[in-house]
Amino acid sequence: MANLTLVILMLVSTTMGSYARKQGPNGELEWFQNICSGKEKVAKVHFFVQDVLGGDKPTVYEVARGSITSNSATSFGQVRVLDDLLTVGPDKDSKELGRAQGLITSADFETDALAMNLNFVFTSGRYNGSTISILGRNQILKAERELAVVGGTGVFRMARGYAITKTHSYDSATAYGVLEYTIYVTYVEDPTSSLLASE
Ligand SMILES: *[C@@H]1O[C@H](CO)[C@@H](O)[C@H](O)[C@H]1NC(C)=O
Repeated sequence: MANLTLVILMLVSTTMGSYARKQGPNGELEWFQNICSGKEKVAKVHFFVQDVLGGDKPTVYEVARGSITSNSATSFGQVRVLDDLLTVGPDKDSKELGRAQGLITSADFETDALAMNLNFVFTSGRYNGSTISILGRNQILKAERELAVVGGTGVFRMARGYAITKTHSYDSATAYGVLEYTIYVTYVEDPTSSLLASE
């Protein structure tokens, strides 16, 4: 895992420190004009999600179900909200990176597949203070699933990209899942922070 962290650090520019909301002296528009003249780069972001469906302290809760849900083999219409821990490694006690927060809806009559709407909220490390938003279909029994990165905030303003997710492990006795995410995401190097950094 140390190697992987190193790769991420190397891929990500040194201007991507803990993020403070940036504005030019003349406000938001100037910041936006500056960032649009910046260079787009790509980061590979890798982490694990602790998906706790059962036990004493679940982090996933059902908030709604349809009239069909209880009789549906795919739990069609079940809507759940989650606030899962993000970690550097698969172990829940490995370094905390942030949270995965959002909605998952069982939205396929035939197959176990979720419509997902999640924000990855980074609270430590390189991306502290930034978020990545993803949307997409997650056919959970497939070995690999792909979801769309639809945007972000902070370092990831105007992000595009995609996320590959795999189920690392699932313990059915405790309903505890560990999911692996690898996200390929664009970001724009902020020309104003490069100037500041060289001062
Ligand atoms: C993340 O950033 C916040 C706000 O700048 C800061 O208070 C906090 O200590 C940082 N957390 C870590 C783990 O670096």
